[in-house]
Amino acid sequence: MTTALDTTAGLEVTPVSGSLGAEVRGIDLRKVAAEDVDTILGLVAEHLVLFFPDQHLTPDEHIAFGRHFGKLEAHPNLSFDAERPEFFELRAEGGAGGVADEWHSDLTCQDEPSIFAIVHMKKCPSVGGDTLWANMYKAYDELSQPMKDLCEGLTALHDASPHGHPERMAVHPIVRVHPITGRKSLFVNEHFTRRIVELSPEESDALLPLLTRHATRERFSVRYRWSEGTIAMWDNRCTQHNVLNDFEGERILQRVTVMGDHPEAAASSDYKPFASEVSAKVWRNKPVIDYLRSRN
Ligand SMILES: [Fe+2]
Repeated sequence: MTTALDTTAGLEVTPVSGSLGAEVRGIDLRKVAAEDVDTILGLVAEHLVLFFPDQHLTPDEHIAFGRHFGKLEAHPNLSFDAERPEFFELRAEGGAGGVADEWHSDLTCQDEPSIFAIVHMKKCPSVGGDTLWANMYKAYDELSQPMKDLCEGLTALHDASPHGHPERMAVHPIVRVHPITGRKSLFVNEHFTRRIVELSPEESDALLPLLTRHATRERFSVRYRWSEGTIAMWDNRCTQHNVLNDFEGERILQRVTVMGDHPEAAASSDYKPFASEVSAKVWRNKPVIDYLRSRN
């Protein structure tokens, strides 16, 4: 990671923590050329989350910027208006409303979670409502070798029960390989990950919280204080994030989401799902059993 001011392609790139995150100045995101897209992709691969202050994009400019990086998620029921199904707005007032205040990677309850999120801080409180991100490459790198060896053979069940939809499930490798950088990262999160599929319920209950707490250690993280008009772009494949729900007043965040990812496991394994149906504890295996049945 760059440790001092960088001037890649005439840009001013300033890292904002020792683990991830950089502010980028000297570019107008309304006028992005093909070579700028490559530069931005290189910077986000290096810093994992980029902050572009003073951009103030309109919804259409925001959508156009996002489309440089791939197909955008469209959700007619959640979108801002009918003409822009790929444009979302999250509003919160005094900490209530759209505040994602639990550590997560986006949409890991889906088979294909997002690649990038691109958000515009439209309105923010004068103080509070910072966002934290954590570097999942570092989280993986700093596991002990025996724990790496164990985790690389395991998968985990993720679901959308925090959003009232426990039936929306996906299974992903606990250690994934980034398709661009080739680096391994830890891929479990407090919000969506329910169960390690190949372990017993008790074993999963012991290991999963250990991993999700480890993943979000302070020294793997950055805490960013927003100003209105800043665009942030992060790689969802190798980071987690969490909003600090400590604010009064209004916070309005607009976003587009780049889709198209299928997490690749760091290693294959022959471990079978732990999904016994023959004991009084069968209910604890039910989510795994339901998932396996849904895929047969
Ligand atoms: Fe999120």
